[in-house]
Amino acid sequence: MNVKQKDGEFIAATYARFPIVITEGKGSLLKDEEGKEYIDLGTGIAVNTFGAADNDWINAVTGQLNKVQHTSNLYFTKPAADLAEMLCSRTGLKKVFFSNSGAEANECAIKVARKYAAEKKGAEYNTIITLKNSFHGRTITTLAATGQEVFHKDFLPLTEGFVYAEANNIADLKQKVNENKVAAIMFETVQGEGGVMPLTKEFVSAIAEIAEKEDILMIADEVQTGNGRTGRLYGYMNFGITPDIVSTAKGLGGGLPIGATLLGDKVKDVLTAGSHGSTFGGNPVCCAGALNILSRIDDNLLAEVREKSEYIINELSEAKGVKSVTGMGLMLGIETEKDAGEVIEKCREKGVLVIKAKTKVRLLPALNIPWEQLKKAVQILKEACK
Ligand SMILES: Cc1ncc(COP(=O)(O)O)c(C=O)c1O
Repeated sequence: MNVKQKDGEFIAATYARFPIVITEGKGSLLKDEEGKEYIDLGTGIAVNTFGAADNDWINAVTGQLNKVQHTSNLYFTKPAADLAEMLCSRTGLKKVFFSNSGAEANECAIKVARKYAAEKKGAEYNTIITLKNSFHGRTITTLAATGQEVFHKDFLPLTEGFVYAEANNIADLKQKVNENKVAAIMFETVQGEGGVMPLTKEFVSAIAEIAEKEDILMIADEVQTGNGRTGRLYGYMNFGITPDIVSTAKGLGGGLPIGATLLGDKVKDVLTAGSHGSTFGGNPVCCAGALNILSRIDDNLLAEVREKSEYIINELSEAKGVKSVTGMGLMLGIETEKDAGEVIEKCREKGVLVIKAKTKVRLLPALNIPWEQLKKAVQILKEACK
């Protein structure tokens, strides 16, 4: 059996994979088993922050691998402590809980919000308001947080206590706050899986105002928008707000699984010994990799992300066959006249990997994609949209 046949036979059929077997890569170039080379504008869905097999990151990861790969959380390790310190100093939040994925980072955020609200205002203040069209993960609770029925339907009943407000509709948000006993409002500043839809500045400011007035926690889900993706270190930094809780994952590890839930002043002491935990959370190899990634997302790189974003938007906005370009930084969605699937397929034939978000073509290139490769890929994408 070849790889595709074996996968079909033995791996649960949850993924509609593209018909290629990726075997290796370097930076923004990937190779399939037939030796065909692709410029990768997907980075494993916003994960490979510095592309494939980045030398610096490999050194950080293998350096730790050669020391010890796992200790459990019964012991202290330096990479986790250093990473937590860096996350706090770069955001102003105060403490971190480490897990292994975006869904888990959100689970932790939800647990913290409920515990805080129960202790401060009473156990009945347990509602979490999320937004319609959001995506927060695949566990039963983060599915409940996800404001899209299509993901819910086969898995009911989900965790109780989630109410969905319309994104960018302040009146609806206020109504939902008034009708419920609310612990937190949870949102992505750019809804990634929902079609790369940014929230408006007015709406995000309204969330912050309501949260402040009603002592409701603000949870920013930065799983996809985080770690430089939007042209700022975290997506919320584009909006002039400071969330109480920030969850992140994906690009933080640069390709190794790590989730982090950052806790601000109000909630920094909510979690106590035994109240939450994770066997692999804070794994030293993942933390060493993440430390390398985070330390390289500096002002110069972020300026480059914004410059590349502007270039892509300028090139594509007026291009033939393109209806609109949405998103921020290097997280962009392109609404095309043709079916997005057709555009994606054409790109793949011509050696460019792009992915889908709802009905759009989604671009999530490496933050350091070389200009030459980016320009080449954008020209191929433009041709495919025609
Ligand atoms: C905003 C957001 N939150 C949470 C998740 C879930 O992350 P994971 O697949 O790592 O559990 C995703 C994944 O796409 C996401 O985009």
